Amino acid sequence: MIVCLCNVLREAACRETACRPECRTVGCVYRLLGARVRCGRCLPHMAALLVEAKASGGGAAAALAADTAAAER
Ligand code: FES
Repeated sequence: MIVCLCNVLREAACRETACRPECRTVGCVYRLLGARVRCGRCLPHMAALLVEAKASGGGAAAALAADTAAAER
């Protein structure tokens, strides 16, 4: 699933990035993916992904990201 249409950011990549220890803010997710916020419609979803990733400690999010990435291939 595409989270950010402006930057064509897939959910799996966003979750994976959100799990990285250096990723602490929504802006970090975009920056680490080499993107930037444009229209901003994806911000609520991206924020939710980040909260989920941090709440799960990264393990569950990484597993889901791997599953999603495999399904998208
Ligand atoms: S949909 Fe993400 S910046 Fe527009």
